[in-house]
Amino acid sequence: MNIGLTVNGEPKLVDVDPWKRLLDVLREDVGLPGTKEGCGEGECGACTVLLDGRSVCSCLVAAGQVEGRRVVTVEGLARGERLNALQQAFIGLGGAQCGICTPGMLISAHELLARSVGRVPGEDEVREALAGNLCRCTGYQKIVDAVRSAAKDAKVAASARKATKARAVRPKPARTRAKSRA
Ligand code: FES
Ligand code: FES
Repeated sequence: MNIGLTVNGEPKLVDVDPWKRLLDVLREDVGLPGTKEGCGEGECGACTVLLDGRSVCSCLVAAGQVEGRRVVTVEGLARGERLNALQQAFIGLGGAQCGICTPGMLISAHELLARSVGRVPGEDEVREALAGNLCRCTGYQKIVDAVRSAAKDAKVAASARKATKARAVRPKPARTRAKSRA
């Protein structure tokens, strides 16, 4: 069966069994092995992707359910070779060790940050957002720190952008204008 979907912003057409798991479609037919399999039964979150903007376990989604829908995988977070701020924070703060849980963690954290624009989610909020993603290596604290650090950086960058914009449109002070007319 031909199934058309959008993956990381690119249209894809795959010819697969409609019962094939989205996880396998992404890895085997679309050629994106970043999404990982842990338990294969919806318990660990390693296979998390965004489906129309919501995080789902791709091991529980059938290919036939994604016709015409938008999927974002961990490969879609970076800009080519350039990792995004969240990915860099995971590396910088030791939020990834063996890496099996990392793609799913990043997708769930990305979903959280996308709905927390302009603020830094609290530690409890991050833990709740990542509750469906299991990690056997990091003890979670470093992951939580990485997510909050990326949110802080995004907030700083946003206020810097705002300040730059405000400076760019600020009119000249009246005294300066009067001086230049003299
Ligand atoms: S592999 Fe899908 S939830 Fe574990
Ligand atoms: S880094 Fe190994 S399971 Fe999370």
